[in-house]
Amino acid sequence: MRVLLTGSAGFIGFHVARALLERGDEVIGYDNFNPYYDPRLKERRNAILEEQPNFRLVRADIGDREAVQDAFDDLVRGASGTETRVCHLAAQAGVRHSIDQPNQFVRDNVQAFTYVLELCRDHEVGGLVYASSSSVYGNSTLDDIVTGVVSAIDRNHEDLVCNLAAGRTEELMEFIRQIERSCGREGDKEFLPMQPGDVVRTSADLTRAREYLGYEPTTEIADGIPRFVDWYREYYGL
Ligand SMILES: NC(=O)c1ccc[n+]([C@@H]2O[C@H](COP(=O)([O-])OP(=O)(O)OC[C@H]3O[C@@H](n4cnc5c(N)ncnc54)[C@H](O)[C@@H]3O)[C@@H](O)[C@H]2O)c1
Repeated sequence: MRVLLTGSAGFIGFHVARALLERGDEVIGYDNFNPYYDPRLKERRNAILEEQPNFRLVRADIGDREAVQDAFDDLVRGASGTETRVCHLAAQAGVRHSIDQPNQFVRDNVQAFTYVLELCRDHEVGGLVYASSSSVYGNSTLDDIVTGVVSAIDRNHEDLVCNLAAGRTEELMEFIRQIERSCGREGDKEFLPMQPGDVVRTSADLTRAREYLGYEPTTEIADGIPRFVDWYREYYGL
């Protein structure tokens, strides 16, 4: 299978790309390495992907219509007999950012997505998987999400909209306690009122993901958070 994966240097995109490359798929990554958070982390992820011979990167903005068109041309070029997919994860995340930068949000998340939809149709791509926002349904753990996204690419259901999440609501303070436990110290906490864009509660119904993707979350936050803290300490040499 050949997959055009936008947001390949991002948190989810990088891990999905790795999972696809490890099983032998060809991946065309697409990312602009924007500075929404430390671009050096994105460069390090990308360097890991570029070690794989079946990976190549397009370093461009998803709002650059010509560059996206070229990437789609590359996806379908000589692909007869090879299945093609687009996995669209490049987006401007962060609800608060959308309040400060509404124009950028619309350009990156709405206009660019329209390009992707049009080009999928024009290039007769075999399937498209894309992500919505965690504000719709709550946080979840990475390993489960990667498994769910890869399953969505493989199963290629028509018009399937479903939630990938932990399937239960976690208290924010419990989340913070888990981080404190993993760090071995209590955090300095400053309690503020609800901020613009905050949601009171998020929750996901996994019925469709279970039925159509065989999705079953397996990672508890009590396991996931210590692993994240270990990674963070190692990465930043703490
Ligand atoms: N991480 C989560 O908990 C979570 C939960 C639900 C949904 N999502 C959605 O999944 C998708 C990926 O999330 P993530 O956590 O990997 O985010 P991320 O910010 O780590 O990754 C997004 C990647 O897209 C790239 N990108 C952004 N705008 C771009 C543009 N205009 N052109 C080219 N590249 C661009 C960024 O450089 C980044 O590498 C997003 O749509 C996000 O809303 C994430």
